[in-house]
Formats: sequence, structure tokens, C-alpha cells
Amino acid sequence: MSHELEQLRDTALGEISAAPDEQSLEAARVGYLGKSGSISVWGERMRGLSKEEKPIVGKLLNEARTAVAAAIEQRAAEFRASAETAALANIDITLPGQPAEIGGLHPLTQMLDRAISIFRRMGFALAEGPDVDTEWYCFDALNTAPDHPARNEQDTFYLPDGRLLRTHTSTVQIRTMMSAPPPIRVIAPGAAYRRDEVDATHSAQFHQIEGLYVDEKVSVADLKGTIEFFLRELLGQQTEIRFRPHYFPFTEPSFEFDVRSKAIKGGKWLELAGCGMVHPAVFEEVNRARGDDAYDPEKYTGFAFGLGMDRLAMLLFDIPDIRYFAQNDLRFLRQFA
Ligand code: DAH
Repeated sequence: MSHELEQLRDTALGEISAAPDEQSLEAARVGYLGKSGSISVWGERMRGLSKEEKPIVGKLLNEARTAVAAAIEQRAAEFRASAETAALANIDITLPGQPAEIGGLHPLTQMLDRAISIFRRMGFALAEGPDVDTEWYCFDALNTAPDHPARNEQDTFYLPDGRLLRTHTSTVQIRTMMSAPPPIRVIAPGAAYRRDEVDATHSAQFHQIEGLYVDEKVSVADLKGTIEFFLRELLGQQTEIRFRPHYFPFTEPSFEFDVRSKAIKGGKWLELAGCGMVHPAVFEEVNRARGDDAYDPEKYTGFAFGLGMDRLAMLLFDIPDIRYFAQNDLRFLRQFA
């Protein structure tokens, strides 16, 4: 006949495997293995046993405890597993997942970032100015005559208060010189606005990078070297660059420059920007407004340039229509992400 402890163990194992839920399992654990559980109390009882009985009962007690504890842990694991299965029951794991959408940079931003990083390597700092500015910053200070056609309401957006949407980023040249004496070496990327007829190559809003370098003994050679370095870094060392004489009221002499590069489809010369040596009249007007002689035209010279970014981005990324930049069409934008 089996020992009482063995019977107790078998009853416990039967109860545990039949336990319908976690509460009844816990009740069984307390009933058998708890402090005064029916198996545990045998520990007390051992003391009253004879020398011969002690090891036999001790062994049985150990076996019963181990077996019952293992059975409880196994049944608990079954409950955990079925809870998990129930939680997943309504999820169809064969459905495709929902991809996390990752944004990308706008092609114009990418273009600007590339250009800015090249100028930074040449020591140009970033400068900025407001899109809404005054006639003085946009025209007067830049030596632009009161009857210059650019000032016309057909060409420029005026606000009711007389301010305007800057027609070029050259405003930032003046703002920079107003805020600090030479030497100055800045680039100013930003938007500019003109009342152009909107079509595939013209937009009322476009983007430029303005550059300004003022110091003693700055020459046309510095201007050419800077522009050439920039364009070869951007478009490749084989890039050809051509300077043509031009006219701007704020530079003398003035140039436009063109590039031809393998990076640009079609192999044609592309007009990229205007540039020149800062006109002494610009320095003089800045001095007058500053109330000092910081930009003494006898002492300082400087070069400036204004690079059109939209057309460059269109050519580099092979984009046929400038309007795509502002239409916010994801089918277009995703191609550059
Ligand atoms: N502001 C001129 C434009 O928008 C471009 C330009 C020409 C900028 C010559 C300059 C410059 O700084 O020196 O057409």
C-alpha cells in the first residue's frame, strides 16, 4: 500500500491538471504547498517520526513537493499560453504590415544643401533676410534708379503698406553690410518673387543663393576662382565655365556666367547667375545709412553673385516643369526621397 504522502501527491497532481483557471490553480497551490498546506505540514510531522522512518518519509516529502510544484508551474504556463493565443486570435498575421512612412527632403532643399556645403568649405557663413522687405533694401541701396523697370508694379509684388516681396536675394547683401563692418563673406539662400507669367520655366516664386565677399584687395580673379571651384565641386571637374560681360546697377564690372557639364543633359551652355564687383555707389549708400565709413570704397572691394537654384535643380534632377516644385504632389516628391 502506498504511503499517505504518495496518495496526497497523486490527488494534488489530478487536481492541478484539472484546474479550470488560474484562481483554482492558486487555491490548489495554497492547499498543498502553502504554509499550512497538506503536503507542507508533513515537514512538522517529521519530527515525531522514528529514526528509521525519517529518511523514507523525508524522501517522499521531497518528491511530492517537487512533483506538485512542477505540475503547478506547467499548468500556469498552459494558462499563459492560452491567454496569449486568445489575445492574438483576432489578429490576422498574414495581412501585410503597415509601413512606417519616412519623409524625404524636397529636391530644392537637397540642391540648396549641396550648394551651401560647398560654400561653407570656402569659409562663407550663412546670412538671411526677410522675404518681405523695403524698396530701399531691394532697390535704392543697390544703386537701382527710381525709374528702373524692375521697380514697376508689373514686375514686383507690392504690399499695401509700400513694402514688397523681394525680387532678388541681393537685399541680404545690404542687410549684412548694415549689421557688420568688413571683412564679410556670406551666402544667403532664399526665395525671391516676381510677377512673371507662370509657365514651365517661370514661377512667381523662385530661389537664389546670394553671395557677398568684401575685404581689402578682393578682385575679379577671386570672383572667378570662387565660382569655378563651386561649380566644379557641384557638377564635376570637367565642367566648363564661361563669363560674359553684363550689366547690373549694383556691380561694376558685371558678368553673367554659363556652364556646360556632363551632369546636365543636352550638352548645352546654361545661364546660371549674375555676378560682379560691388559698385562703389553701393558701399557709399551703406556708409551713409550706417553713419560711418566702414565700407570705404578706397580701401575695400568686394564681389557678389546671385545664383538661380530652381533651374539648376531642374537640370540636375531632370525635372521638366518648375511648377512641380510647389504642387506638393507626392508622386513627384517621392522620386527624390
Ligand atoms: N540680383 C540679380 C538677379 O536677381 C542677380 C545678381 C547679379 C546678384 C549680380 C548679384 C550680382 O549679387 O552681383 O538677377
